[in-house]
Amino acid sequence: MASPSAQSKNMKKLMEMAIVIGGGTVFYGIYAVYSGNEKMYTNVVMPVVKLLDAETAHNFAVKAAKYKLVPRPRVPDPACLQTRVWDREFSNPIGLAAGFDKHGEAVDGLLKMGFGFVEVGSVTPLKQPGNEKPRVFRLLEDEGIINRYGFNSDGHDTVYSRLKFRESEPRVGAKGCMGVNLGKNKLSAYPVDDYVQGVKKFGKVADYLVVNISSPNTPGLREMQGREQLENLIHVVSLERNKLRLTRKPPLLVKIAPDLSDKDKEDIAAVVTKDNRVDGLVISNTTVSRPHSLQSLNKSEVGGLSGSPLKDLATTTIHDMYRLTEGKLPIIGVGGISSGKDAYEKIKAGACLVQIYTALIYQGPPVIARIKRELGELIRKDGYTSVEEAVGVDHKKKS
Ligand SMILES: Cc1cc2nc3c(=O)[nH]c(=O)nc-3n(C[C@H](O)[C@H](O)[C@H](O)COP(=O)(O)O)c2cc1C
Repeated sequence: MASPSAQSKNMKKLMEMAIVIGGGTVFYGIYAVYSGNEKMYTNVVMPVVKLLDAETAHNFAVKAAKYKLVPRPRVPDPACLQTRVWDREFSNPIGLAAGFDKHGEAVDGLLKMGFGFVEVGSVTPLKQPGNEKPRVFRLLEDEGIINRYGFNSDGHDTVYSRLKFRESEPRVGAKGCMGVNLGKNKLSAYPVDDYVQGVKKFGKVADYLVVNISSPNTPGLREMQGREQLENLIHVVSLERNKLRLTRKPPLLVKIAPDLSDKDKEDIAAVVTKDNRVDGLVISNTTVSRPHSLQSLNKSEVGGLSGSPLKDLATTTIHDMYRLTEGKLPIIGVGGISSGKDAYEKIKAGACLVQIYTALIYQGPPVIARIKRELGELIRKDGYTSVEEAVGVDHKKKS
């Protein structure tokens, strides 16, 4: 039997070993998280995040991006993913959809994660709280989310104060592009005026502006997609954009729903292609439909459904709108993208840029690098040298 002094020496050695191993593990863990290690996120980080309720997890992720505690891409973007839209350069066509950085808190951190562009918002003119909590629900079995946030917004002034530093910067190139998505206040008496105010406020700082008339959680909003209302809205808002005293005026986009009839789509196409007032479409927002395939108990929550169950509906809407607008308007394709293959489907249907949201919630930041890698491989495999060559090819095959 060892003497008491030998025993205490052994104990000390064991403690030292435990500290070295424990410290090494923690250090490796931090390194793996920071370097965007996919396995670390799949097996450790995301399961822990899912223990939090969906809104808390969302707020936590925004704060991490705000303080730039985010993984950075380890490889540069493949050359074939570089693209130019509206005279703006994108180092890759994968963007972050509206609704993640609603208040413009974390644009730089999110661009550093490897997105080609980030869309802030939706922002409403006046600060408003949105709907009562809980208002975000994971549909784990379906890889979907239902949200009824209802445009919780810090309001134009506060969001603008966070973004105004971009006024003095060149907004293209290495730092990536930033769009601002405009909404309306729930109790607004003059909804058109809310969008006009948005154009005036953010025209100087945004690389593009989005008129969002497709969120399902603001009463009356989707009716603005109807022909007469849309015509009036686009007329007034585009005049305001044209009045901006800027050499590079921001392109004006309209974000539409996936729940549209053929007639609705024809009407929208007629309005947005008239007189060069609109520069692009974002397709699509969340759906109010509930596919029969849904498994999760949360499927009966009220709100907009996103993620995998939305994928095909969004792609069909992109396909239809590309055809109806004769490929003349750039389309940002969004809805259920979680792989390079999904992104490529949207591009072939007519999107020149794409966005993700729900996949980021489920897979974490490594999904960005994976989508870029897989998309680059698919583009090269089909013999294209640039993503631009693949835009809308589904339509060319048929004609
Ligand atoms: C929690 C949540 C909040 C959202 N908030 C907004 C919003 O404020 N404005 C908007 O235009 N779209 C919003 N969206 C819709 C997304 O921008 C996107 O169009 C939709 O989620 C489909 O993409 P996904 O399937 O990749 O999530 C939100 C989506 C989610 C999941």
